[in-house]
Amino acid sequence: MDAPVLDMLSRYRKHGGERWHTPGHKGVTPVHGEFLDWANDITEIEDMHATPNPVELSERLMASAYGADRTWYSVQGATLPVMAGILAAFPFGSTLLIDRAIHRSVLGALIIGAYKVRWLYPDFIGAGLPLPLKNFPSDLSGVDGVVLTRPTYDGLAAPLTEIVQAAHQQGLIVVVDEAHGSHWQGPHYPASALAIGADLVAHGVHKNEASLTQTGLLHLKGHRVSASAVERWWRVLQTTSPSYLLLGALDRLQWERRQPERCQTWDSLAVRARDLWIQCAQSRIALLQPWAAARHWEVDPARLTIMGQGLRVAQVLAPVGAVEKVTAHSCTLILSPQQSLAPLASALARLPDTHDPKALRVLSYPRLKAAMGVREAFEKPGHWVPLAHAAGEVAHDPLVPYPPGIPAAMPGELLTPELTQWLSEWVQEAAGTLQGIKRLDGQLCVWVVRS
Ligand SMILES: Cc1ncc(COP(=O)(O)O)c(C=O)c1O
Repeated sequence: MDAPVLDMLSRYRKHGGERWHTPGHKGVTPVHGEFLDWANDITEIEDMHATPNPVELSERLMASAYGADRTWYSVQGATLPVMAGILAAFPFGSTLLIDRAIHRSVLGALIIGAYKVRWLYPDFIGAGLPLPLKNFPSDLSGVDGVVLTRPTYDGLAAPLTEIVQAAHQQGLIVVVDEAHGSHWQGPHYPASALAIGADLVAHGVHKNEASLTQTGLLHLKGHRVSASAVERWWRVLQTTSPSYLLLGALDRLQWERRQPERCQTWDSLAVRARDLWIQCAQSRIALLQPWAAARHWEVDPARLTIMGQGLRVAQVLAPVGAVEKVTAHSCTLILSPQQSLAPLASALARLPDTHDPKALRVLSYPRLKAAMGVREAFEKPGHWVPLAHAAGEVAHDPLVPYPPGIPAAMPGELLTPELTQWLSEWVQEAAGTLQGIKRLDGQLCVWVVRS
C-alpha cells in the first residue's frame, strides 16, 4: 500500500519501548478511553443543539475541576486558546508587556491585534535552554496588559505572584500561556497560573496528560475579561467541525481530573522523579531540573532534561524509549504517572559522561529596538539580504535560533551589527538552526522589510 504516513506509524509502533515525549497518554488507552473508534469521529450531532449542549456541560465540569469560572475546549491545541485569550483581553493597538520566550501563537495575536510590545528578555544557558524570567519590572506605566509564557519547554517556572498582583493593582489583565503546565496540582508541582490569579490561562493538555494530540483549554477566572469577548474570538478562530474524538478525550480528562486518586498519582510521579534526580547525582549525571531548583526556580518534576551530548544521550536511551527533544548539549523527556521509571533509571546508569559544564553558563541576547510595530512590518513587502549585511535593516519575520527557540529579532525590529554577528556565531557554536534564515547562493540570508 502506498501510504507513507501509515508506514511511518507502523515503523514507530514496531520499534516499541517507552515514550518520553508528547502526548501524555503515551499510546496507552486510559480508563474510560475506549470511546476512540472511527465510529465516534463525528461533528455537530443532534445533541449539540440542546442548551446547554453536552460540550458546554463538560466544559463546566472541567472548569470546576480547575477552579476556573469558565473553560473552553480547544481542538486546535494551545494555539487557539493563546490567540483567542490575548485578542479577547486587549483592544487592538494596546501596549503589552510580554516575555520574549513566546510560542508563535502569540505572534499571531500580535499581528491580528496590531499590538505594541514592551519585551522582557529571559536569559538562557549555553545548552540553548531558556531560563524563566526572574525579575519583573515594578513600573508598569504605559502598559495596558501582561502576557506571560510559563513554564519553559523544560518545565522551569517563573514566580508569578508579584507580577500578577502588581498588574491587578493597576487594573491590568494578565494572560498566561501555560501550555506545558496543565497537569500542575498539589504541593509537588509549581503553583498554576489560575491558582495565582491570572485572568486567562491557556493549556495544551495533550502535552502531559492522557488526552489526544491537538486538545487544549482556555480558562477564565474573575471579572476583568468578559466571557462574551472570548466567545466572539472563539467563533472567529475555531474550526466549525470540531472532532468528537478530541472533544471526547477532553471529556474523559475532566472526569479523570475530578477523581480523588488523581492528585496522588501525580504526586507519586513527582516523588519518583526526585528519587531519580538523587540517583543521577550519585552517578554524576547532570540534570537541568535539580540545577534550577537549587537556584530557586519552580520546577516541573514531570520533565527531565539530561545535560550532555543530546544525540548521544538519545542513542543510549533509544533501546528503551523515545525522547521528546534533543539539542547539541541536552536531551529532554516528558514523564507521565502511568510510566515506570525503572527502565529509564537503568538506561541512565549506562550513560557516558558527556556533560560540558559550559552548557550551564548563563547567556543573554543582544537587545533590539523596534523601528515599527509587528503588524506594520508584516504588512510591508520583504526581501532577502545576506545576514552579514543585514545590520541597519528591519526584520520582517522573526529570527529564532533553535535552540533556545526565543526570538532574537521580532518583525519590525532594527537589526544591529552586534546581533547579526552574534547570530552567525551562535548558530555555528550551538549547532542549531536559525528559523527565518535561508541559504541563497551559498550565503545565509534573512527576510527584511523592503523600504
Ligand atoms: C509555550 C507554548 N504555547 C503554545 C503552544 C501551542 O500548542 P499546540 O501545539 O498545542 O497548539 C506550544 C506548542 O508547543 C508551546 O510550547
